[in-house]
Amino acid sequence: MEEQRGQWGSTFGFLMAAIGSAVGLGNIWGFPYKMGKCGGGAFLLVYLLLVIFVGFATMLGELALGRKYGRGAVGTYAAIGKKWTWVGYMGVASGFFILAFYSVLGGMVLRYMIGFIMQIFGGSGFEGLGGGDFFGSFTTNAAGMMAYYAIFMAVNIIIVAGGIEGGIEKFTKIAMPALAAILIVVIIYVACQPGAGEGYKFAFVPDFSILTTDFFTVLKTAAGQMFFSLSLGMGCMITYGSYLGKEQNLESNMIIIPIADTCFAICAAMAVLPACAAFGQEYGAGPGLLFITLHEVFNVGMGGFIGNLMGFLFYFLVFLAAITSSISLLEVCTAYLIDKQIEKGKEPDRKKLTITIAAIIFLVGIPVALDGLGAGRAGGAVLDIPATFLGVTENIPMAIDCWLDFYDCISEGIMMPLGAAIMSIIIGWVIGTKVVADEVAETPGVKLRAVAIMDICFKFIVPAIMVVVLIAQIQDFF
Ligand code: PFF
Repeated sequence: MEEQRGQWGSTFGFLMAAIGSAVGLGNIWGFPYKMGKCGGGAFLLVYLLLVIFVGFATMLGELALGRKYGRGAVGTYAAIGKKWTWVGYMGVASGFFILAFYSVLGGMVLRYMIGFIMQIFGGSGFEGLGGGDFFGSFTTNAAGMMAYYAIFMAVNIIIVAGGIEGGIEKFTKIAMPALAAILIVVIIYVACQPGAGEGYKFAFVPDFSILTTDFFTVLKTAAGQMFFSLSLGMGCMITYGSYLGKEQNLESNMIIIPIADTCFAICAAMAVLPACAAFGQEYGAGPGLLFITLHEVFNVGMGGFIGNLMGFLFYFLVFLAAITSSISLLEVCTAYLIDKQIEKGKEPDRKKLTITIAAIIFLVGIPVALDGLGAGRAGGAVLDIPATFLGVTENIPMAIDCWLDFYDCISEGIMMPLGAAIMSIIIGWVIGTKVVADEVAETPGVKLRAVAIMDICFKFIVPAIMVVVLIAQIQDFF
């Protein structure tokens, strides 16, 4: 079965793939502005505590279950007990919907990257438009959005169809070091700009008063961000764990992946926010940060050759981060189909299965590419937003204000925290933390040291935090 499913070729390869999955749009886009908005250093403190008490345990749980049962999300939960199979399906569904909107965003990143390349060679990369205007004109351009969305999905297919070692590992082993190198170049360049200091202040100086006035907001924002950023709660790490050999040390991996992910997030904040500050852009811009504010920073603020070069490097970096994450989402869905074929006694055809599932996901993601990211037909797009279909015209809840948020709220908002909570409850209360500890001990000379703490995490802390996230997310529907 191992031969039919594939395996990681080396520890380094696995780590690059897993860290690649974790480091994505969530780190470079979400983390910096959420940290800035939620008390800077105070947010970071809460985030780090969550990584230690929730992230480590959940990462370990997913990797251990994956390796133990040697199957993707559905197969793993089915092996634990038939009545849990639906949790695996929820994970696959969650990956399915996240990939749909993630690839539309990935396509947009590609468009911005190409825009800066064109400008390097003297062309007009953005139709002579500024940040907000270009964003509006591009997102309502149906043909453009669809084309870049399709290219991004095609790149995903090529990598995932190549297999675990020959596709995902091979790509991430090059992409992740490249991403890190570019990030360092951007951080250093930005640090040398006058006025950057304000950005660091905004990102890092702790405002502890927020912990007394608005602790719930900080907690839910940090917890939701952490889960998404670590690719947890939807079987991604179960799937990646299922390709791990028994010689791989789960205890160290459960720590390395979250720490690396957090370092990338902090580095992203050190690049993005000071850049906004130095070039006179609003650095608390929120969701518009990646496509409007930063576009202005490179295109207008820095300007000239250096602006185009830095702009290209930056969006290339974001593209690498997005693609190394989206392939893990596609792998969750592909692994499900491969496992099913193996179960039926058939020889799985990875290429065919990857193309099939990616094509279906692509179709489902089309509304995300066509509603102008919330502009709707009223705003010049070719498709209306979900609220219009549902007849809601006033006080539109966030969950239905555009197709992207709709998919996001269902997958990242509801299914991910629910999946994580149930996995943790299954480990803590049904099969027992010992199963995880025993799986860790399968590696010669390795023994899980913090079993008692992990047990408390699985039984109480992870489910409690997940309930907080879930309640917060459900509010988005009203
Ligand atoms: N971790 C990715 C990010 O921070 O952008 C997103 C993601 C990838 C979520 C894979 C879930 C997943 F399974």
